[in-house]
Amino acid sequence: MNAAAPLLEIRGLHAGISGTSDHVGILRDVALSIRPGEMVGVVGESGSGKSMTALSVLGLLPPAVRVTAGSVLFDGQDLATASARTLRAVRGRRIGMIFQDPMTTLDPVVRVGRQIEEAYRIHHPRASRAEARERAAAVLDLVGVPDVRERMRQYPHQWSGGMRQRAVIAMALVNDPELLIADEPTTALDATIQAQVLEVLARAREQLGVAIMLITHDLGVVAQYADRVVVMYAGQMMESASTGELFDDCRHPYSKALIRSRPSLAEPGAPLATIPGQPPSLDQLPTGCPFAPRCTAPYRSERCATETTALKASIDGRLSACHYRDIREDA
Ligand SMILES: Nc1ncnc2c1ncn2[C@@H]1O[C@H](COP(=O)(O)OP(=O)(O)OP(=O)(O)O)[C@@H](O)[C@H]1O
Ligand code: SF4
Ligand SMILES: [Mg+2]
Repeated sequence: MNAAAPLLEIRGLHAGISGTSDHVGILRDVALSIRPGEMVGVVGESGSGKSMTALSVLGLLPPAVRVTAGSVLFDGQDLATASARTLRAVRGRRIGMIFQDPMTTLDPVVRVGRQIEEAYRIHHPRASRAEARERAAAVLDLVGVPDVRERMRQYPHQWSGGMRQRAVIAMALVNDPELLIADEPTTALDATIQAQVLEVLARAREQLGVAIMLITHDLGVVAQYADRVVVMYAGQMMESASTGELFDDCRHPYSKALIRSRPSLAEPGAPLATIPGQPPSLDQLPTGCPFAPRCTAPYRSERCATETTALKASIDGRLSACHYRDIREDA
């Protein structure tokens, strides 16, 4: 594969729920790319479509939600139209997944080591049990689990929350995937443990070269770990930028509001202060810009309520969905 080519490239992705007489758009024109070894943060308030974007990559959208347009190219292959068999071969093997609650991933009645060995053997059916055990031990060691051999014989309830999340990360890494999708991997953990788990992800990326899609509410986490960030709102992309660009000079009024609502970027785990108002309900989206009812930008105009927005490049090449992407407040 060409090293400069994206590993994952989501293009013009639309997904929604179709009823007999109406269609509710859940994702509208989502575009996101991740290069090999890159960490891309996906941020936005609850309900903005972060998880749906992740699930669309893996072919795991809820049954009611259908992809209606666009493509999800993974190493050149379109996963949006791939067969169930192809998806099964990619999922867990070339793309690892980590979700918020480790207990939904771990089976409470199976020893932790055994679960990681099985995750390896599904994709390596010819591997011996001893080989799978070696692989599981190596990956648990990589994620910083102490006394690995002894720990492998224990059940999940004998592990602390932070250790369980390490086990889930180990399970996601056991097949040496090219991409890891981590959907709020630390939200259920307390602040100190969150930081340790994020360090584990950062180390995995450094040592294995795995690319990571990191979905989070926490802008501090993004500022510290991600190379690039996409900001979502109401199922759409509002801004896409390098992490430095976003935090030093963000362009979309929604990104500005999100960053302003964060009390201190130096304090990972602190709760997000809220932006006044609520995101729109997806079945009652305003015509025009979805952020218009809450936008306080001084240049906001009639056009905002009538003309639909899309992620486009500004004169200086920055990607924003605001109609006024070329106006600089500080100019
Ligand atoms: N199983 C489902 N069936 C239908 N619609 C759903 C389902 N799950 C979520 N949705 C809707 O899809 C939209 C996007 O949800 P999504 O879970 O992607 O948001 P999110 O950004 O991940 O939010 P959070 O930060 O709370 O996890 C929401 O409006 C939500 O109500
Ligand atoms: S398009 Fe208008 S309402 Fe939307 S973010 Fe820009 S200025 Fe605000
Ligand atoms: Mg989510």
